[in-house]
Amino acid sequence: ELRGVVALDGPSGTGKSSVARRLAAGLGARYLDTGAMYRAVTLAVLRAGVDPADTDRATEVARAAGVVQGTGPDRSTTHLDGEDVGAEIRGPEVTLAVSAVSAVPEVRALVVAQQQRIIADALDEVGGIVVEGRDIGTVVAPDAPLKVYITADAEARARRRAKQDAASGRQVDLGATLADVQRRDAHDSSRAVSPLRAAADAVVLDTTDLDLPGVLAALLELVSDRG
Ligand code: C5P
Repeated sequence: ELRGVVALDGPSGTGKSSVARRLAAGLGARYLDTGAMYRAVTLAVLRAGVDPADTDRATEVARAAGVVQGTGPDRSTTHLDGEDVGAEIRGPEVTLAVSAVSAVPEVRALVVAQQQRIIADALDEVGGIVVEGRDIGTVVAPDAPLKVYITADAEARARRRAKQDAASGRQVDLGATLADVQRRDAHDSSRAVSPLRAAADAVVLDTTDLDLPGVLAALLELVSDRG
């Protein structure tokens, strides 16, 4: 059983989400997908017809948006103003705009505060939660007893993302997927507020040559080492 927070950070396409979900299920813990919350806010911004570069209006939309993120390990759901948007937030429009929206400092402050409330509730209720994102070990849960920074080389990540997209019935172009992965990495790593980086006390796990069971085994070992 897991006590406390496991912070899983890293760029997109490392297999982080799949492994975080399984880790939480295996440990009887909750699971929080923080990227889904930025995606839901981004969907609200797009639906409002607001340019993500218009930071004041984007912040207004974020403040008014009713984003509800479920934390069940098997079914982590995302609702926007009562509507299940789990599929739509994975689509290309949101994926293209999310880095710009998530770079707005006021948007981050709102979303981080909500994430910290969700984490506190989960700790009260079940004692443990696996939290996945970009800034969990650095900003959202800096006191987490275990922080893992999951990485893999960009081509391996693009291949995984393309496979996921194909499995969800979306059209796939490996070159475009690689370009998107690299664009988002550059954007997420260079933003002024909470850039993507490993916390000083994070364990770095390179998954380029690991399959999903391999990554899960490595994480379970880290959890038991810390326990
Ligand atoms: O994890 P996912 O790919 O769904 O995240 C989508 C985007 O949300 C990221 O590219 C990043 O811009 C943003 N994000 C963030 N901080 C987090 C999680 C996601 O800025 N903790």
